Amino acid sequence: MVSSLTQQPRLTLDIFVHFLPKMTDLLLPTKHKLHGKVAIVTGGASGFGEVTALHFINHGARAVVIADVQDEKGQKVAASICPDRCTYIHCDVTDEDQVKSLVETTVSLYGQLDIMFSNAGIATPSKQVVTDLDMSAFDKVFAVNVRGMAACVKHSARAMKKGGVRGSIICTASVMASMANPTGGTDYVMSKHAVLGLMRAASLQLASYGIRVNSVSPGLVATPMMCESFGAEKEVAMKMTEKFSRLEGVNTEKHVADAVSFLASDESEFVTGHDLVVDGAFVFPQ
Ligand SMILES: NC(=O)c1ccc[n+]([C@@H]2O[C@H](COP(=O)([O-])OP(=O)(O)OC[C@H]3O[C@@H](n4cnc5c(N)ncnc54)[C@H](O)[C@@H]3O)[C@@H](O)[C@H]2O)c1
Repeated sequence: MVSSLTQQPRLTLDIFVHFLPKMTDLLLPTKHKLHGKVAIVTGGASGFGEVTALHFINHGARAVVIADVQDEKGQKVAASICPDRCTYIHCDVTDEDQVKSLVETTVSLYGQLDIMFSNAGIATPSKQVVTDLDMSAFDKVFAVNVRGMAACVKHSARAMKKGGVRGSIICTASVMASMANPTGGTDYVMSKHAVLGLMRAASLQLASYGIRVNSVSPGLVATPMMCESFGAEKEVAMKMTEKFSRLEGVNTEKHVADAVSFLASDESEFVTGHDLVVDGAFVFPQ
């Protein structure tokens, strides 16, 4: 009895020491958290995709493939980020064959796929109040934001499974994935709710392969898409977005790229099925 009592603290200490991270692990530089990884960024010619592609390279990614329908812009962005490690491939995510070919080309060029940032998305220019829904615009939004997103998750997951890669898939959702806009955007709101459903289903189905699936949900950011819907230049649009968060300041592409880089990296190795909201506490201005 006495001896078991005296051994107890030692056993607890052993267990504690066993689970303590090695000091060397804690000291690893975080700068190259994507060292050696191969990534695809859809919608990478502009906005969040463009900034995140640069972030991936700065974090040490071996290769980043920018996939978009804006060929000239995509090529320029790839060349300006890093001509040796960043390439552009035309891919319309509404066409499953193009998505399949994008993933296959990436794997044949670089040997594997570690990260899929499925980010391409559009908004309907018209109001899309439910009583006035333009159904052909609705179909277009769903073709890109939902069907395209599903095709990207499907083919990247297949490549990761086939290659035995414990990869990370990140989908761009939105604050509108968990709330609605009283003034319209019905199709967009619906499409982003669907992204969360896709992310959650895929995260459960792929967990046993070590493949993680998460989403990032930005608030309002003055990307080209948002500037167009505000009908304003970047600086003015940035000022306009300030009113949409409770945190002081402007929500930017960098905030989103930081969150995506975290989800792409081993820093989030036990995070899956999670929607990471990056909105400075979103609020509709009164
Ligand atoms: N800007 C915001 O405030 C905001 C907020 C929440 C979510 N989002 C989402 O962020 C994502 C990126 O948007 P952004 O704001 O950076 O806008 P953006 O317009 O700057 O970038 C979107 C990119 O997607 C590309 N794209 C569009 N259709 C495509 C298709 N069929 N195939 C391949 N690429 C296609 C565009 O060419 C463009 O380069 C979208 O999914 C959008 O819904 C934006």
